[in-house]
Amino acid sequence: MHIFKTSDEAAKYAYELIEKGIREGQIRTLGLATGGTPLKLYAYMRHAGLDVSNVTTVNLDEYVGLKDTDEHSYRYYMEKELFSHMNFKQSYLPDGTAEDLEEECARYERILKTHPVDLQVLGIGKNGHIGFNEPGTSFDSRTHIVELTESTREANRRFFEREEDVPDRALSMGIASIMDAKKIVLLAFGKSKAEAVRSMIKGPVDEACPASVLQMHPNVVVVADEDAASLL
Ligand code: GLP
Repeated sequence: MHIFKTSDEAAKYAYELIEKGIREGQIRTLGLATGGTPLKLYAYMRHAGLDVSNVTTVNLDEYVGLKDTDEHSYRYYMEKELFSHMNFKQSYLPDGTAEDLEEECARYERILKTHPVDLQVLGIGKNGHIGFNEPGTSFDSRTHIVELTESTREANRRFFEREEDVPDRALSMGIASIMDAKKIVLLAFGKSKAEAVRSMIKGPVDEACPASVLQMHPNVVVVADEDAASLL
Protein backbone atom coordinates (compact mmCIF):
# COMPACT_ATOMS: atom_id res chain seq x y z
CA MET A 1 0.00 0.00 0.00
CA HIS A 2 1.23 3.48 -0.83
CA ILE A 3 -0.14 6.50 0.99
CA PHE A 4 0.46 10.01 -0.28
CA LYS A 5 -0.29 13.42 1.22
CA THR A 6 -2.39 14.46 -1.76
CA SER A 7 -4.40 12.70 -4.42
CA ASP A 8 -2.29 14.47 -7.02
CA GLU A 9 0.91 12.81 -5.79
CA ALA A 10 -0.94 9.50 -5.60
CA ALA A 11 -2.21 9.81 -9.16
CA LYS A 12 1.30 10.65 -10.34
CA TYR A 13 2.63 7.49 -8.68
CA ALA A 14 -0.07 5.39 -10.39
CA TYR A 15 0.75 7.07 -13.68
CA GLU A 16 4.43 6.20 -13.30
CA LEU A 17 3.59 2.54 -12.65
CA ILE A 18 1.47 2.41 -15.79
CA GLU A 19 3.94 4.36 -17.90
CA LYS A 20 6.74 1.95 -16.94
CA GLY A 21 4.58 -1.09 -17.65
CA ILE A 22 3.66 0.21 -21.08
CA ARG A 23 7.18 1.33 -21.95
CA GLU A 24 8.67 -2.03 -20.93
CA GLY A 25 5.98 -3.96 -22.82
CA GLN A 26 4.43 -5.67 -19.76
CA ILE A 27 1.08 -3.96 -20.26
CA ARG A 28 -0.50 -5.05 -23.54
CA THR A 29 -4.05 -4.84 -22.16
CA LEU A 30 -4.89 -2.09 -19.72
CA GLY A 31 -8.08 -2.25 -17.67
CA LEU A 32 -9.67 1.14 -17.06
CA ALA A 33 -12.22 2.58 -14.65
CA THR A 34 -14.43 5.66 -14.62
CA GLY A 35 -15.75 7.96 -11.88
CA GLY A 36 -14.03 10.95 -10.32
CA THR A 37 -11.07 9.04 -8.90
CA PRO A 38 -9.01 8.26 -12.04
CA LEU A 39 -9.39 11.75 -13.58
CA LYS A 40 -5.97 12.98 -12.43
CA LEU A 41 -4.32 9.77 -13.56
CA TYR A 42 -5.91 10.21 -17.00
CA ALA A 43 -4.72 13.82 -17.12
CA TYR A 44 -1.14 12.62 -16.56
CA MET A 45 -1.56 9.96 -19.22
CA ARG A 46 -2.96 12.19 -21.94
CA HIS A 47 -0.31 14.86 -21.40
CA ALA A 48 2.59 12.43 -21.51
CA GLY A 49 2.67 11.66 -25.22
CA LEU A 50 2.98 7.94 -24.49
CA ASP A 51 2.96 5.60 -27.47
CA VAL A 52 0.11 3.19 -26.77
CA SER A 53 -0.36 1.89 -30.30
CA ASN A 54 0.29 -1.66 -29.03
CA VAL A 55 -2.02 -1.35 -26.05
CA THR A 56 -5.65 -2.49 -25.93
CA THR A 57 -7.95 -1.10 -23.25
CA VAL A 58 -10.97 -2.72 -21.60
CA ASN A 59 -13.28 -0.82 -19.28
CA LEU A 60 -15.01 -2.20 -16.23
CA ASP A 61 -18.56 -1.11 -16.82
CA GLU A 62 -21.19 0.94 -18.64
CA TYR A 63 -24.69 2.17 -17.89
CA VAL A 64 -27.61 0.43 -19.56
CA GLY A 65 -29.50 2.53 -22.07
CA LEU A 66 -27.14 5.46 -22.63
CA LYS A 67 -25.83 6.01 -26.15
CA ASP A 68 -22.12 6.62 -26.90
CA THR A 69 -22.99 10.22 -27.61
CA ASP A 70 -24.72 10.71 -24.27
CA GLU A 71 -22.35 12.74 -22.15
CA HIS A 72 -23.20 10.59 -19.11
CA SER A 73 -22.17 7.35 -20.74
CA TYR A 74 -18.85 5.90 -19.71
CA ARG A 75 -17.89 5.62 -23.42
CA TYR A 76 -18.29 9.38 -23.70
CA TYR A 77 -16.25 9.93 -20.53
CA MET A 78 -13.43 7.70 -21.81
CA GLU A 79 -13.37 9.37 -25.23
CA LYS A 80 -13.22 12.77 -23.60
CA GLU A 81 -10.63 12.01 -20.91
CA LEU A 82 -8.38 9.58 -22.73
CA PHE A 83 -9.22 7.90 -26.02
CA SER A 84 -9.43 11.04 -28.18
CA HIS A 85 -5.99 12.11 -26.94
CA MET A 86 -4.12 8.82 -27.24
CA ASN A 87 -3.45 6.23 -29.94
CA PHE A 88 -4.63 3.03 -28.25
CA LYS A 89 -4.78 0.02 -30.55
CA GLN A 90 -8.42 -0.63 -29.63
CA SER A 91 -10.68 0.20 -26.73
CA TYR A 92 -13.55 -1.90 -25.44
CA LEU A 93 -16.43 -1.06 -23.12
CA PRO A 94 -19.58 -3.08 -22.57
CA ASP A 95 -22.37 -1.82 -24.86
CA GLY A 96 -25.25 -0.77 -22.64
CA THR A 97 -27.48 -0.20 -25.66
CA ALA A 98 -27.21 -3.77 -26.96
CA GLU A 99 -30.58 -5.30 -27.73
CA ASP A 100 -29.68 -8.56 -26.00
CA LEU A 101 -27.88 -7.57 -22.80
CA GLU A 102 -27.17 -11.16 -21.73
CA GLU A 103 -25.47 -11.81 -25.06
CA GLU A 104 -23.54 -8.55 -24.67
CA CYS A 105 -22.20 -9.78 -21.30
CA ALA A 106 -21.12 -13.06 -22.92
CA ARG A 107 -19.48 -11.12 -25.78
CA TYR A 108 -17.59 -9.00 -23.26
CA GLU A 109 -16.30 -12.08 -21.45
CA ARG A 110 -15.01 -13.37 -24.80
CA ILE A 111 -13.19 -10.07 -25.31
CA LEU A 112 -11.60 -10.45 -21.87
CA LYS A 113 -10.49 -13.99 -22.75
CA THR A 114 -8.85 -12.71 -25.94
CA HIS A 115 -7.32 -9.73 -24.13
CA PRO A 116 -6.36 -10.83 -20.62
CA VAL A 117 -5.84 -7.74 -18.48
CA ASP A 118 -2.23 -7.08 -17.48
CA LEU A 119 -3.00 -4.16 -15.22
CA GLN A 120 -6.45 -3.12 -14.01
CA VAL A 121 -7.10 0.35 -12.61
CA LEU A 122 -9.86 0.31 -9.98
CA GLY A 123 -11.69 2.86 -7.90
CA ILE A 124 -13.82 1.95 -4.92
CA GLY A 125 -17.40 2.89 -4.08
CA LYS A 126 -18.32 4.20 -0.63
CA ASN A 127 -20.03 0.89 0.03
CA GLY A 128 -16.94 -1.05 -1.07
CA HIS A 129 -18.12 -1.77 -4.60
CA ILE A 130 -15.65 -2.37 -7.40
CA GLY A 131 -16.75 -1.83 -10.98
CA PHE A 132 -20.49 -1.83 -10.38
CA ASN A 133 -20.38 -4.94 -8.23
CA GLU A 134 -22.53 -4.01 -5.28
CA PRO A 135 -22.33 -5.61 -1.81
CA GLY A 136 -23.64 -9.17 -1.96
CA THR A 137 -22.38 -9.83 -5.50
CA SER A 138 -20.91 -13.32 -5.79
CA PHE A 139 -17.13 -13.52 -5.88
CA ASP A 140 -17.65 -15.97 -8.79
CA SER A 141 -19.49 -13.41 -10.92
CA ARG A 142 -18.46 -12.70 -14.51
CA THR A 143 -19.71 -9.79 -16.67
CA HIS A 144 -23.36 -9.29 -15.74
CA ILE A 145 -26.34 -6.96 -15.63
CA VAL A 146 -26.46 -5.00 -12.38
CA GLU A 147 -29.34 -3.28 -10.61
CA LEU A 148 -27.69 -0.25 -9.06
CA THR A 149 -28.31 0.38 -5.36
CA GLU A 150 -29.79 3.62 -4.12
CA SER A 151 -26.47 4.60 -2.53
CA THR A 152 -24.57 4.15 -5.81
CA ARG A 153 -27.21 6.04 -7.79
CA GLU A 154 -27.04 8.80 -5.18
CA ALA A 155 -23.20 8.87 -5.33
CA ASN A 156 -23.32 9.21 -9.12
CA ARG A 157 -26.20 11.69 -9.03
CA ARG A 158 -23.77 14.63 -9.21
CA PHE A 159 -22.99 13.82 -12.85
CA PHE A 160 -26.66 14.08 -13.90
CA GLU A 161 -29.11 16.97 -13.98
CA ARG A 162 -32.07 15.14 -12.50
CA GLU A 163 -32.26 12.18 -10.19
CA GLU A 164 -34.56 10.33 -12.57
CA ASP A 165 -31.87 10.58 -15.27
CA VAL A 166 -29.48 8.33 -13.31
CA PRO A 167 -29.78 4.89 -14.92
CA ASP A 168 -30.91 2.10 -12.63
CA ARG A 169 -28.98 -0.62 -14.40
CA ALA A 170 -25.46 -1.16 -15.69
CA LEU A 171 -23.30 -3.85 -17.26
CA SER A 172 -20.24 -4.62 -15.21
CA MET A 173 -17.32 -6.97 -15.29
CA GLY A 174 -17.91 -9.41 -12.46
CA ILE A 175 -15.69 -9.91 -9.46
CA ALA A 176 -14.11 -13.06 -10.91
CA SER A 177 -13.50 -11.17 -14.18
CA ILE A 178 -11.71 -8.40 -12.25
CA MET A 179 -9.68 -10.91 -10.20
CA ASP A 180 -8.30 -12.41 -13.46
CA ALA A 181 -6.16 -9.28 -13.98
CA LYS A 182 -2.47 -9.99 -13.45
CA LYS A 183 -2.02 -6.80 -11.47
CA ILE A 184 -4.52 -4.42 -9.89
CA VAL A 185 -3.95 -0.78 -8.93
CA LEU A 186 -6.77 0.47 -6.71
CA LEU A 187 -7.01 4.22 -6.22
CA ALA A 188 -8.85 5.72 -3.25
CA PHE A 189 -9.01 9.41 -2.47
CA GLY A 190 -10.85 11.44 0.13
CA LYS A 191 -12.48 10.95 3.55
CA SER A 192 -15.65 9.53 2.02
CA LYS A 193 -13.68 6.40 1.01
CA ALA A 194 -11.97 5.86 4.38
CA GLU A 195 -14.54 3.38 5.72
CA ALA A 196 -14.54 1.35 2.48
CA VAL A 197 -10.72 1.27 2.46
CA ARG A 198 -10.69 0.05 6.05
CA SER A 199 -13.15 -2.78 5.30
CA MET A 200 -11.26 -3.70 2.14
CA ILE A 201 -7.94 -4.07 3.97
CA LYS A 202 -8.78 -4.87 7.59
CA GLY A 203 -12.22 -6.43 7.33
CA PRO A 204 -13.09 -10.07 6.66
CA VAL A 205 -13.04 -11.31 3.06
CA ASP A 206 -16.77 -11.18 2.60
CA GLU A 207 -19.23 -10.47 -0.20
CA ALA A 208 -20.69 -7.70 1.99
CA CYS A 209 -17.60 -5.70 0.99
CA PRO A 210 -16.81 -6.57 -2.65
CA ALA A 211 -13.35 -4.95 -2.50
CA SER A 212 -12.31 -7.26 0.36
CA VAL A 213 -11.85 -9.99 -2.30
CA LEU A 214 -8.66 -8.16 -3.27
CA GLN A 215 -7.03 -9.58 -0.12
CA MET A 216 -6.97 -12.85 -2.10
CA HIS A 217 -5.26 -11.35 -5.16
CA PRO A 218 -1.49 -11.91 -5.39
CA ASN A 219 -0.61 -8.56 -6.95
CA VAL A 220 -2.58 -5.56 -5.74
CA VAL A 221 -1.23 -2.07 -5.15
CA VAL A 222 -3.50 0.27 -3.17
CA VAL A 223 -2.68 3.91 -3.86
CA ALA A 224 -4.42 6.25 -1.44
CA ASP A 225 -4.26 9.76 -0.11
CA GLU A 226 -4.04 10.37 3.65
CA ASP A 227 -7.78 11.03 3.95
CA ALA A 228 -8.76 7.71 2.39
CA ALA A 229 -6.20 5.91 4.57
CA SER A 230 -7.23 7.74 7.75
CA LEU A 231 -9.11 4.82 9.36
CA LEU A 232 -6.35 2.23 8.94
C1 GLP B 1 -18.79 4.19 -9.87
C2 GLP B 1 -17.98 3.32 -10.84
C3 GLP B 1 -16.82 2.66 -10.17
C4 GLP B 1 -16.07 3.70 -9.37
C5 GLP B 1 -16.93 4.18 -8.23
C6 GLP B 1 -16.30 5.30 -7.42
O1 GLP B 1 -19.94 3.60 -9.42
N1 GLP B 1 -18.75 2.35 -11.53
O2 GLP B 1 -15.99 2.04 -11.13
O3 GLP B 1 -14.89 3.16 -8.83
O4 GLP B 1 -18.19 4.63 -8.70
O5 GLP B 1 -16.51 6.52 -8.05
P1 GLP B 1 -15.71 7.84 -7.75
O6 GLP B 1 -14.33 7.61 -8.23
O7 GLP B 1 -16.42 8.91 -8.55
O8 GLP B 1 -15.80 8.05 -6.29
